[in-house]
Amino acid sequence: MSTSGLALNGGTAAISTPAPVWPVHDELEADALMEVLKSGKWGTTSGDVVKTFEGEFATHQQADHAFALSNGTLALAAALRAGGVGIGDEVIVPPYTFIATASAALFVGAVPVFADVDPTTHLLDPAAAKAAITERTKAIIPVHLAGAIADMDAFAALGREHDLIIIEDSAQATGAAWKGTPVGTLGDIGTFSFQSSKNLTAGEGGVVTTNDAALADNLYAQINVGRVRGGGWYEHAVVGWNLRMTEFQGAILRSQLSRLDAQQKQRDDNARLLDELLADVDGVVPDATDERWTAHGRHLYMMRFPAFEGNPEVRDAALKALKAEGLASASSGYVPLHRNEAVVRDARAIADRLGQPYPEAQCPVTDELCRDTIWLPQHWMLGSEETTRSVATAITKVVNSLDELR
Ligand SMILES: Cc1ncc(COP(=O)(O)O)c(C=O)c1O
Repeated sequence: MSTSGLALNGGTAAISTPAPVWPVHDELEADALMEVLKSGKWGTTSGDVVKTFEGEFATHQQADHAFALSNGTLALAAALRAGGVGIGDEVIVPPYTFIATASAALFVGAVPVFADVDPTTHLLDPAAAKAAITERTKAIIPVHLAGAIADMDAFAALGREHDLIIIEDSAQATGAAWKGTPVGTLGDIGTFSFQSSKNLTAGEGGVVTTNDAALADNLYAQINVGRVRGGGWYEHAVVGWNLRMTEFQGAILRSQLSRLDAQQKQRDDNARLLDELLADVDGVVPDATDERWTAHGRHLYMMRFPAFEGNPEVRDAALKALKAEGLASASSGYVPLHRNEAVVRDARAIADRLGQPYPEAQCPVTDELCRDTIWLPQHWMLGSEETTRSVATAITKVVNSLDELR
């Protein structure tokens, strides 16, 4: 019989309000979509909605150049190619991230090399990245995971010191700022995703940003079948993909961008309240903050649970209990990417073909994080104060009832 009142065991769920709705939309999006439809200009080769969005996004991120494209995965691949990364080059990536960060390297024939992350933030550790540099290294992709920002002072310095391209994977960090500067131009190229779960979304989509004029030309070419910016229709100076976004996506993104700052404020207020409410709860540790993050992207609310004692079975039981309390979209997050067979097989195939070593990655911090992390998606930070308080109650209730769940 339940002694704790866990909803899983027949008690009352901690969260009685409905989950905050995502995505948010109204006539603004509907009108913008209808306008594109009626115009008959559905692609960027005839319309100018995406171009206008690119300008607005560049302004928002304080970037000199922004180019919209199909998604955040190919944004990374385009960034690597635009930066001259190719066959056999090594690209340092964290193993605690979405697979795209590593698969993008493979798409351009490069070899992803894993460097471990910081246990308090889940972000790529600059010291580990530095230790992974070889004479074959061409790029580093720090990932601004959850909307938190990797140490861009350290990564920019590594880039200068070792002549490396630094690509900020900002898929989860639209709206985040490092010491007052929005992400996306703190390294050489920034990449963003507008896939359904993201804080700025059109269902799918992405953007690349840069302050470097030459890289901007290369990015444009990669997105536009190798075309020369300002050149002729059949003038293909390099081999590039067609990664163009549709005008319908541009229309939704313009509308969504107009909502973003207010939504980010609400997410930030709720995340800070959750930090406060969980501060004294034994057994759960929300991710650390950094005073250099002048705006947190608030894409995920990430927590580690020392109370699980590294046992994923306890984590899974807790997750089930959290879902029963009303947090249906809580997640145990990533599995270690440095152990993903598909990624390792492809990386090793390239290295073997070129006679390059590809030693097994040692990333114990990631292994540990993958056993005791739970995160909440961004829409849980878009609720009322009452909802946020009930989220904290749900987490507290579950962490205090682990004995019953074991
Ligand atoms: C860290 C990270 N990188 C890259 C991507 C890839 O973006 P997309 O899904 O738009 O291809 C995602 C998101 O899905 C992501 O979370």
